[in-house]
This record gives sequence, C-alpha cells and structure tokens, in this order.
Amino acid sequence: MENLQARNSNIIEVFGLTKKFGDFVAVDNISFTVGRGEIFAFLGPNGAGKTTSIRMMTTLLAPSKGAILLNGINPWENQDAARKSFGIVFQDPSLDEELTTYENMEFHGILYRIPKEVRKKRMEELLRIVELWDRKNSLVKTFSGGMKRRLEIARGLLHHPKILFLDEPTLGLDPQTRNHIWTYIKNLNKTEQITIFFTTHYMEEAENVARQVAIIDHGKIIAQATPSKLMAKTRTKTLEKAFLKLTGDTIREETANAIDNLRLQRRIHNR
Ligand SMILES: Nc1ncnc2c1ncn2[C@@H]1O[C@H](COP(=O)(O)OP(=O)(O)OP(=O)(O)O)[C@@H](O)[C@H]1O
Ligand SMILES: [Mg+2]
Repeated sequence: MENLQARNSNIIEVFGLTKKFGDFVAVDNISFTVGRGEIFAFLGPNGAGKTTSIRMMTTLLAPSKGAILLNGINPWENQDAARKSFGIVFQDPSLDEELTTYENMEFHGILYRIPKEVRKKRMEELLRIVELWDRKNSLVKTFSGGMKRRLEIARGLLHHPKILFLDEPTLGLDPQTRNHIWTYIKNLNKTEQITIFFTTHYMEEAENVARQVAIIDHGKIIAQATPSKLMAKTRTKTLEKAFLKLTGDTIREETANAIDNLRLQRRIHNR
C-alpha cells in the first residue's frame, strides 16, 4: 500500500464523478487528477457544482456515479482513513461562536483522537502561524470575519492532513487579510507538503497561487491547465478574462433564481 502511494504522484484522482438531485445533474461526469503537493484551483460560476464536488470528495455526500481516490484511499469504502487524510474549510462558517479559540481547536482534536500532548503542541504551533495565539482565550463571537477564517484554517490542519480542501477561504475578506491567508497557505504547502484544493471567485488569487486550474460550468469541466496556458489558449492577459471567455458573461439562471427567492422571502418576512 505504502509503495503504491509513493509511486502514485497523484494524491487526488476523480473519475466520472456525477451527482444528480432528482432530475437535475449538478455534477456531470467530471474527471481530473491533482498532483501530490500541488496547489489546485477549482473555479466556476455560482451554482457550477464546486461545493457539491467537494462534498462528494470529503465523504459528506454520496456520488450518484463515479470513482474517487484520496491519497490512494476510496473514501466511500474507508471513510475513517479518508477523513484522516484531509482537512476542510467549508464555504459556510462552521465554528462554535460560544466557545473560545482554544476550545474550538480542542474539540476538533478530540474528535480526531489526537493524543493530548501532541494536540497541545500542534494547537500552539498552528495558532501562532495564523497569529491567533494571543487570542486563544477569546470567544469566537468577538472575532472579525478574517480572524474566524484563520481559525478555521488552523483547525483544518490540526490532524496533519495530506490534503486541505478550502471552499472559498477568502470570501468577504479585505485584500490585506486575503493576502495574509494565502501567505500562510503557501507556506504550509511548502513546509508540510500539504496538497491544496481550493475554490474562489477572486480570479487574481487563483492566478497568483494555483499551479493547476480546473474550470467547471453547469456541472462539466470545460478546461484544465496552468493559469498561463489558459490565458494563452484564450489570448487573454488575466485569468479573469480567460475565465469569462470560457464561461461567458451571463449570470447563471440558478443564481438568479436563488437571489429572487431570497428577495421574495425577505419581502414575505418583512410584511
Ligand atoms: N441538496 C441539494 N438539492 C438540490 N439541489 C442542490 C443541492 N445542493 C446543490 N444543489 C444545486 O446544485 C448546483 C451546484 O451547487 P453548488 O453548491 O455545488 O455550486 P457551487 O459551484 O459551489 O456554487 P457557489 O459558487 O455559488 O458556491 C446548484 O444549482 C444548486 O442549486
Ligand atoms: Mg459553493
């Protein structure tokens, strides 16, 4: 097994992955590989199927069809081993706001059965990296958005995962905080050889950080290459322009519907 893993330079392999919700195909027969130690951006407009794909890869949602291998493990045959091999930062915040920084970390460490002494050491190391060690005893509800995101990243790394999934890690953060977060992530990628699989709507982040990019639209992967190859192929000078050329400039119907629904609900609520 070890030999097989060592020989295999791809840490993530996805083949024919599909998810249907009723008749609607949210993820449509996607295949890709991610090299060990790579920083991989999974890009796509709203509703393209990014979060749904990540949920299937991280044992949270059963695929309708297809195969996944994470670090040589089939997550659907061996959920525990698969979960040990990755950390995840969800698109929606998932901290317990009524607990302190330290308690949020501790809770995660206990869930992953990390021995107490190892846990203590690793918690301090990670909280120092994301510059929250001084705030270890503060309640999370007193934190800014950027501090919460940094804590979620530190928590996702507590059990020494080989892969870190980040679903829009910098959503809604100011440019300074986004820069800091990417600096931590790039350092972790280098010092701990963690493979990074992330989504973002900030194309300049992907252009600066990612070695490989896959673009998904309406559930299908429509392009996969390095940022510079995507720009060359579309004859554009920025990844954002390449992205728009590949995916078009219309707002996704699904998103428009979701926003309409929100407006409608708000109107009903405010009546
Ligand atoms: N549980 C569900 N039931 C029905 N439809 C769903 C469900 N989860 C997701 N979808 C639909 O699947 C599609 C893909 O959603 P997903 O959340 O994967 O998109 P995304 O690429 O992550 O978008 P965003 O950039 O807005 O986060 C959307 O049309 C969404 O409405
Ligand atoms: Mg999403």
